[in-house]
Amino acid sequence: MLKDKKILLGITGGIAAYKAAELTRLLIKQGAAVKVVMTEHATEFITPLTMQTLSGNPVYKDMFTLIEWSEIGHISLADYPDLIVIAPATANIIAKVAAGLADDLLSTTVMASRAPVLFCPAMNTMMFTNPIVQNNIEKLTEHGYRFLEPSSGQLACKVEGQGRLPDPPEILDAIETLLAPKDLVGETVLVTAGPTREPFDPVRFITNYSSGKMGYAIAQAARRRGADVILVSGPTALNPPTGVEYIAVASASEMRDAVMARLDRATVVVKSAAVADYRPSVLADSKIKKGADEIVMKLERNPDIIAEIGRNKGDRVLIGFAMETEDLVANATKKLLEKNMDMIVANDLKTQGAGFQGDTNVVKLIRSGGRIDALPLMDKSEVADRILDRIGDLKAERNDGRS
Ligand code: PMT
Repeated sequence: MLKDKKILLGITGGIAAYKAAELTRLLIKQGAAVKVVMTEHATEFITPLTMQTLSGNPVYKDMFTLIEWSEIGHISLADYPDLIVIAPATANIIAKVAAGLADDLLSTTVMASRAPVLFCPAMNTMMFTNPIVQNNIEKLTEHGYRFLEPSSGQLACKVEGQGRLPDPPEILDAIETLLAPKDLVGETVLVTAGPTREPFDPVRFITNYSSGKMGYAIAQAARRRGADVILVSGPTALNPPTGVEYIAVASASEMRDAVMARLDRATVVVKSAAVADYRPSVLADSKIKKGADEIVMKLERNPDIIAEIGRNKGDRVLIGFAMETEDLVANATKKLLEKNMDMIVANDLKTQGAGFQGDTNVVKLIRSGGRIDALPLMDKSEVADRILDRIGDLKAERNDGRS
């Protein structure tokens, strides 16, 4: 997602400076190049050596250090990034930039740069809510600078309130959102994710191994790209991505009802949930007791949600998934055509790094027109983007087919 993106990370003097180390690690893991500028005060909280080791680049602190021979430090750094992130951002750096002050390397670089800037304020609650700080934030926002809201909780000064630097994954999400193309603005993407649970008594149910990671990655990527996102999810251990409409369900019937109630609003439907095809015919009122004999359980068909959507597709783009253990392309193509999908994402449980639970997947994108794109092993977040990349094409293909 951040492959080849250049991030200039500014660190100012606050106790939350330690979180900049983890943020740098996450940025590098996502493929970004990171250069770090630290204020004098920041070096009291975290060492330049730590940041240099993690970023793999020299750390810049001094205004008057010449970078490579004749380059002027702040000018060369100002031209470098796709995005400047200041985390943590103290009241001081916010005030300086709001006042147009440029008296150290970080403030000078920000003033000299045309790159977007994301401030991640972290400070004591009384400071953060001080009208002077709030006015500075408002002024900078009007000038196009971006702010990530500090989170609430116990602060270093033992006071409860707003002012904590959000955790690095949340800052990373804000960065990825800022840098993502906004090609899905105007779309409403309905995503299903996770397993379903089909109970047969009050304490037990039939389910499968889906963790929800693949579907949540799609929901998050679509939201970053500007879509309104509805995420209908079976039970998972994941936190719903921020900024999506989240509906928790358990059984396939509940998932069907939740999807159908919202289908009118959807322009794109992505069905990555692993829905149980069958449910126990009888749901016992009380716990089934162990006996001497074997138990035979009768199962009945669950609603086929994607088939129902396919019959009522209208202008929507419909993308399904297929989890197979043999004849991947043939079986997936059969589902694609029978259920009127535009594309099916086929994954094979027997392929290393594919399918349930892990952070990666290996998929084939099979379109109704017959085209097959085989993607290599990649993170589920990247698979999500590659799926969403196809939406424009799928719409165009459908329109061509009609004309
Ligand atoms: O959640 P993770 O751990 O990240 O794992 C991801 C995944 C393996 C679950 C995902 O990549 C995946 O393959 N999801 C679909 C699994 C599946 O149920 O495949 P299927 O071949 O049984 O179903 C085909 C399609 O019909 C799917 O889009 C499914 O959502 C849909 N379906 C199936 C049954 C049913 N009753 N209603 C449906 O809508």
